[in-house]
Amino acid sequence: MGLYGVVVTALWAMLPAYVPNNAAVLTGGGRPIDGGRTLSGRRLLGDGKTWRGTAVGWAAGVALALVLRQLHAPASNALGVALPDFPLAAALALPLGAMLGDIGASFLKRRTGRERGAPFPGVDQLDFVIGALAAATVAAPEWVLATFTVPVVVAVAVITPLLHVSTNASAYLLGLKEEPY
Ligand code: CTP
Ligand code: MG
Repeated sequence: MGLYGVVVTALWAMLPAYVPNNAAVLTGGGRPIDGGRTLSGRRLLGDGKTWRGTAVGWAAGVALALVLRQLHAPASNALGVALPDFPLAAALALPLGAMLGDIGASFLKRRTGRERGAPFPGVDQLDFVIGALAAATVAAPEWVLATFTVPVVVAVAVITPLLHVSTNASAYLLGLKEEPY
């Protein structure tokens, strides 16, 4: 597969993992998952991780994956790439893992003394990718092995931080997010 095919495959396979965080930013609020609990004087997760944001983020990612399942044949034709199809297990696991990776990162941020919204370079950009791939590996191991070849993983590792930085900067400029990262 050439560079174009690798990049298109990486973007397609990761779309259900990219959307949940953005959906959470738009809908977050309400009860925090940690219920205000603390550990060693710091919040377990913080007010930035809510039940509503997590549920809506997961649902948005699953909904997108189900749409992509329907578009698999026409999109493969239009793009000239044999795109990966999403088994149901992957459609559920990718967005759930993305949300859990982001929650895990907040746990680490609080343990390392970072307040809500503080940047954690590298972790902020890749937490949801690692969570999504880990969850998909548990739920649909054969699909992950067939889809995420070494070049595709490299493409994901390069493209994701670039996309993350640009979408967050845009959300900030639009007034949807409090920090530009
Ligand atoms: N959000 C949410 N639930 C989640 C993830 C995000 O409600 N599981 C919403 C919150 O309103 C949050 C916003 O999306 O403030 C931005 O997400 P993020 O940058 O991940 O959270 P931060 O507020 O920056 O907090 P943290 O430092 O813990 O990342
Ligand atoms: Mg943040």
